Amino acid sequence: MMKKILCIALALVMVASLGVVAFADEVDAIKEAGVLTVALSPDFSPMEFVDSTKEGQDQYVGFDVTLAKYIAEKLGVALEIQAMSFDACQTAVAMDAVDMSISGYSWTEARAENFELSDYYYAGDNETEQVLLVRAADADKYKSAEDFSGKDVGAQNASLQQMLVESQLPDANLKIIGEIGVGVMELQSGNIEALAVAMGNGKQIIANNTDLVICDWQFEVAAEYEANVIMMHKGDTALLAAVNEALAEAYENGYYGPWYEEALEIAASEGAIEVSVEDAA
Ligand code: ARG
Repeated sequence: MMKKILCIALALVMVASLGVVAFADEVDAIKEAGVLTVALSPDFSPMEFVDSTKEGQDQYVGFDVTLAKYIAEKLGVALEIQAMSFDACQTAVAMDAVDMSISGYSWTEARAENFELSDYYYAGDNETEQVLLVRAADADKYKSAEDFSGKDVGAQNASLQQMLVESQLPDANLKIIGEIGVGVMELQSGNIEALAVAMGNGKQIIANNTDLVICDWQFEVAAEYEANVIMMHKGDTALLAAVNEALAEAYENGYYGPWYEEALEIAASEGAIEVSVEDAA
């Protein structure tokens, strides 16, 4: 009898000590590390961009940055933003090099297959409408999808916009662009005829570039793409649950509207810029 109790006690001690060595799950690992690493591509105002009057971590601003801070706070850890190009953000999550990416992601079938995607969160008019920017001087030339056939149309690499150009403008020549800011310059210089962007982001771009306008014709957007999601490594279901809990709380507390307004205000400020981050070699 005594022996049996000893055995059970010993087994319990072993299980307990194992728990210290191997983390129960990825949330425990984040708490143990004391830091949440979040990848984002700060070329997408007002969701994520750069305040050039600030330095270091403080330079990253926008709705998604506020959201990232909120989630880190909920987990009781510090936040570390890792800025990289939009496609590199997705690779970083796939390779488990960061805890998550919050970078204005629309829900898509392919992403749902390859990643854990959070519940929807608010993204202003960034996801409800997907549009094309064209040069103001050419606005009259582009009134329908057919008008883009044979024309060079830019879209960010690995984005929803790329998918929309491929499916809804099959006769256009898709030009893949790494950074949105580079696409804007290509459009201004006449290297491309149009650039596919999210409406909210497009409004920010034309506010700073009066030679560009939003085209009358716009993409049809399926309802499931009309909100943003946070991207996590496949299998990180404990983190997914923690993130969804934080999102539900932010929604119930009515934080989304004020966070978006604040992001718009910063975007309108003097130092606001959208930054292109080269892929790490
Ligand atoms: N919503 C679009 C997508 O999911 C564009 C997001 C672009 N984000 C960025 N930080 N550049 O692909």
